[in-house]
Amino acid sequence: MKTLLRIDASARRTDNDKPSYNSISKSLAQLFCDHWQAQNNLSEFIYRDLGDQVPPAITQDWIAAVFTPEEHQSTEQQRLLALSDCLIDELQRADIILISTPMYNYGMPAALKAWFDQVIRINRTFSFDLKRGDFPLRPILSGKKLVLVYSCGEFGFGEEGIRAGMNHLSPHIKTLSHYLGVEQFYEVRSEYQEFADERHRASIKAASASLTELALKI
Ligand SMILES: Cc1cc2nc3c(=O)[nH]c(=O)nc-3n(C[C@H](O)[C@H](O)[C@H](O)COP(=O)(O)O)c2cc1C
Repeated sequence: MKTLLRIDASARRTDNDKPSYNSISKSLAQLFCDHWQAQNNLSEFIYRDLGDQVPPAITQDWIAAVFTPEEHQSTEQQRLLALSDCLIDELQRADIILISTPMYNYGMPAALKAWFDQVIRINRTFSFDLKRGDFPLRPILSGKKLVLVYSCGEFGFGEEGIRAGMNHLSPHIKTLSHYLGVEQFYEVRSEYQEFADERHRASIKAASASLTELALKI
C-alpha cells in the first residue's frame, strides 16, 4: 500500500473548450496517475493544484515563527505556520511524489517555488548543524521517489540539447528534492509547445510512452 502525492503547478486547467489551451503537464501527470494506480495498491492519493490555489509567499513573520521553538510559538505564529504544517504532513505521508509543472521563464512557476518554500523547513524537513562543516544541512525524510514531468514551449533543454544551459527548472527541482527525502529521481519532458508542429506531437507521444513505462517500473 503506497501513498501518492501529486503536485500540479500549471496555471492552466485541463477542461478548456479549446483543447489546445489545456495544460500539457497536467494531462501528462494524469496519464502517469492512471497507469500507476492500475498497477499499485493505493492507500492514499493526495492532490494539490497549485495553479488553482497558489501558496502564499513566505514573510519575515513566517521566518521568525519557523525559528521559534514550538513550545514558545504564539497562537498567531501557529496560525502563520498552519499551511506549512499541513503541506509537510502531506509530504511525510508520501511514498511517491509526482510534480507536474510548466517551464516559465526558464525556471519553475512562482506557485511551485512558493510550495517548496513552505515545505523545506528547518527541523521539519532538514536539520542544520555547524558541526557538519561546510555542509550543515541534512534531510530528515528519506526513501521517497519523485517523478517530475514538465512541459516547455521551446526545445533542447535535455543534457545535450541546444538550450541545456537555460534549463533552470529540472536541475533546480532535482537539487531541492534531496530535502524532500527523495532518493530516486525521474524526469520526463515535453517540448516544442510553441511550435505546435509535428515535433511537438512527437515530443508528447514520447513523453507519454516514457511515463507509461515508468508507471510500470516504480
Ligand atoms: C508565463 C510563461 C512563461 C513561459 N516561459 C517559457 C520559457 O522560458 N521557456 C519555454 O520553453 N517555454 C516557456 N513558456 C511556454 C510553456 O512552458 C508551455 O506553454 C508549457 O506547455 C506550459 O505548460 P502547461 O501546458 O502545462 O500549462 C512559457 C509560458 C508562459 C505562460
